Amino acid sequence: MTDQKVQELLSRMTLEEKIGQLVQLDGGCYGVGALATGPQAKLGITQDVVDVSGSVLNVLGADKVRAIQARYLSRSRLKIPLLFMADVIYGYKNVYPIPLGLGCTWNPALIREDYRMIAEEACADGCMVTFSPPVDLVRDARWGRCMESPGEDAWLNSRYAKAMVEGFQNDLDPAHSVASCVKHYAAYGAVEAGREYNTVDMSERRLRQDYLPGYKAAVDAGCMLVMTSFNTIDSVPVTANRWLVKGILRDEWGFGGVVITDYAAIQELKAHGVAASDREASRLAMDATVDIDMKTPCYANQLAGLVRDGALREEQIDEACLRVLRLKNRLGLFEDPYRRADAACAEATAHDPAHAAAARKTAQRAAVLLKNEGNVLPLRKQGQRIALIGPYADSADIIGMWAIHADRGRAVTLRSAMEEKLAGGVLGFSQGCRTVEALSALGEFGNVPALQGEDAGEAAAARWEQEALALAAESDVVVAAMGEHMLQSGESGSRTDITLPAPQKRLLKKLRAVGKPVVLVLFNGRPLALEDIEADCDAILEAWFPGTQGGPALADLLFGDAAPSGRLTVSFPYTVGQEPLYYNGFNTGRPAEGSGHSGRFVSRYLDCPNEAKYPFGYGLGYHTAVYSGLTLSADTLRPGGTLSARVTVRNTGAAAGVEVVQLYLRDLVGSVARPVRELKDFRRITLQPGESRTVEFVIREAMLAFLDRNMEWTAEPGTFEVMIGPHCMETQKARFEFIV
Ligand code: GLC
Repeated sequence: MTDQKVQELLSRMTLEEKIGQLVQLDGGCYGVGALATGPQAKLGITQDVVDVSGSVLNVLGADKVRAIQARYLSRSRLKIPLLFMADVIYGYKNVYPIPLGLGCTWNPALIREDYRMIAEEACADGCMVTFSPPVDLVRDARWGRCMESPGEDAWLNSRYAKAMVEGFQNDLDPAHSVASCVKHYAAYGAVEAGREYNTVDMSERRLRQDYLPGYKAAVDAGCMLVMTSFNTIDSVPVTANRWLVKGILRDEWGFGGVVITDYAAIQELKAHGVAASDREASRLAMDATVDIDMKTPCYANQLAGLVRDGALREEQIDEACLRVLRLKNRLGLFEDPYRRADAACAEATAHDPAHAAAARKTAQRAAVLLKNEGNVLPLRKQGQRIALIGPYADSADIIGMWAIHADRGRAVTLRSAMEEKLAGGVLGFSQGCRTVEALSALGEFGNVPALQGEDAGEAAAARWEQEALALAAESDVVVAAMGEHMLQSGESGSRTDITLPAPQKRLLKKLRAVGKPVVLVLFNGRPLALEDIEADCDAILEAWFPGTQGGPALADLLFGDAAPSGRLTVSFPYTVGQEPLYYNGFNTGRPAEGSGHSGRFVSRYLDCPNEAKYPFGYGLGYHTAVYSGLTLSADTLRPGGTLSARVTVRNTGAAAGVEVVQLYLRDLVGSVARPVRELKDFRRITLQPGESRTVEFVIREAMLAFLDRNMEWTAEPGTFEVMIGPHCMETQKARFEFIV
């Protein structure tokens, strides 16, 4: 309908009906099972509120959605449809790798296409809004939600944010799109000590320069909702932070869409200690221009009183309600309240072979080969006895913590995929060990089943180990499929020990002692500290949680039907003590290298290198490459001008392979300290054996800009270093002057 009719509808609504549009409830309020994605609390709201509520949380299934909508509309005075919102983060029935793996593809265009297919599947099954993409910049591997982020670089995250929003929203084609909700605004990834829901505090410069770009890129791409995060910024919880939500998001960035809180965040303003009551919490959130209250009774029970007492203006309620009605209108709900949800279509779309093929291709490209000593990979399909051992060898639980609407049973295991590829080779399998010492520490979440054998007693575990060691002894090579339990990452998955879980580490060392080559395939949701097991492995393939096609994708890589091409978008530390760890830090006044001070008095640890064990941008293929001949088209750049940088890349290996050629810049002297390097561009190129390619980058003034001493975005004159290479720590260098 026209916007004028939307506004006319608003004018006919009572205050209670307008407030109802600002309330989001879960399926339990509509007579269907509620999947708890947060703490469960008795809401204490009336049926009258349910009858005028605006949206539903995490209820999907075409028939179920249609039934709820029909029943709801039959009781609705003004026939304003419900909005169905859900966590369809990185897959629906076909699940892709976790976003941290997607980031490692260095291929936003691929991810945009993947997200378009995700939207198709979810839309057909009744999803209208997805609480995705999460684009929180992450620098601390202790935080479990690293798994939901594309990584530690602001510019690269922005590229993915744009691609994911465009993929989901797909020009709002009614049958092939969902509205996206970028999250978690803002800077949730910077929780102190990596501890979930903890405090965030940083300079405004760091916030704007490093942490906000991903959300802004999503808003600029047309993202229709923004979710406020659980944390404080400058001591003010984001859900009550008028400066951040109204000042920056709405007034500076021009965001006119809907702001929804994270789960129960309004009521949690009391726990933060900035509100003494639900009433005060509600007033603070509404004053910050937060539109929808997710899963608490605050707005439902407090807003009318606040308006009647004059503590809030009814215009504020009108503005929030109008944003929600406009969202529903843009989704076409007033013309079609079901948005073409159809069970048969949903089933057909979810089984579209193109979707599974896309999930497999992306899982191949998300994997990062960290080590391949003696070219133990790729394996041979025949004439080799392979021992496949570990908790993830035959597990379907490879889709990560936030694939809550997926059918885990659709996941193809590594074992079945490898068996299918073998042509006369021998593959033996053993569970080997438990994933973690005790499941109890992980808490409950949704329908996550215990991994196969998780509840095995000591006797069973001992039997598995004997079986695994015997299998290894009679094999030519061991593939150890190991990693974190799926609930050791994701929400509430913070860890202070980010090494491989103890039962698996013990087994890995015993397998090493058998004396056969060991290939470690890792399933995890964060950078791990691998220093204590790296020497036990001849090869290490980082698979992340690769999704429903993870088994076939990894088998493709292990047998060489595809070559690894992923590159890290997060730094892997030697030890958790280095966290937070990221590639683009400052030089400090006493850099470990080149400071001129004596050995002791420089910025370093006594017991660990400063650098990452596996750095940002790093990854191996089945080929080798040499970079040479970096040249600049000029040694000066002027405002509005361009400068080109060229480098030659040669495949010196015997196999074809992908190189991700990365361009970094460094501003050697600024009005404030500047990072020692910053990613500014990259190219993915495929090279045949012996092939050379000259890669050219265009350097522009905008690449030089930063927030100067006066908090103005500007490019300052001076010397800049150009660095081009296969990762951030291995680059060819040249310099130019920016002259104004
Ligand atoms: C959770 C998560 C958020 C999710 C929301 C709804 O607590 O923080 O990412 O979208 O609640 O499930």
